[in-house]
Amino acid sequence: MSNLEWLIDKAKEYGVEKESEFVLDGRFATWSGSSKPTAHHYGTGGLLEHVTEVVKLCLQSNEYFKTIDKGVDDRLLFLAALFHDVGKIWDYESYTDYNTGEIIWKSNDHKNKIHHISRSVIVWNEASVNMKQEERDEVTHAILAHHGQRAWGSPVEPQTRLAWLLHTCDHMSARMDDCDRKNGRA
Ligand SMILES: [Fe+2]
Ligand SMILES: [Fe+2]
Repeated sequence: MSNLEWLIDKAKEYGVEKESEFVLDGRFATWSGSSKPTAHHYGTGGLLEHVTEVVKLCLQSNEYFKTIDKGVDDRLLFLAALFHDVGKIWDYESYTDYNTGEIIWKSNDHKNKIHHISRSVIVWNEASVNMKQEERDEVTHAILAHHGQRAWGSPVEPQTRLAWLLHTCDHMSARMDDCDRKNGRA
């Protein structure tokens, strides 16, 4: 089963396939996770690989925290992890190097003017229009806070367990991938 199929199955399990349609399509599956070969999950398909990993890390960590009464709502956690970086589709563009035929990813003006965190919130806002406002806000907070600090691009810092889970799992997925890149994988 591909990562995309796995995420679509999870969305069905939580009854959020309608909302998730805003993310889970072919375009999302082909995008890069960054605009520099040295940055985490660079390259075609990198975004889907990263987001699948963040969803898995979040849900697995939550299973443990539930055993000590510190768990959060799986459905909202899934949605926050699924939507957190969808705005990267607007931030990056691919080009073909005419000499080598290689696909190269670069950032664009959208990244400077709006940035993926804000765009992810805009997409989430559209996708969640039929959900309760309280639930929409819980996920919005986690998306806004997912970089953890203002210095790292988040307008607010995590205030809830759900937002901390998303930030720490996002950070872990990114740093574990960086190690491979420093060793020359990219
Ligand atoms: Fe991000
Ligand atoms: Fe991320």
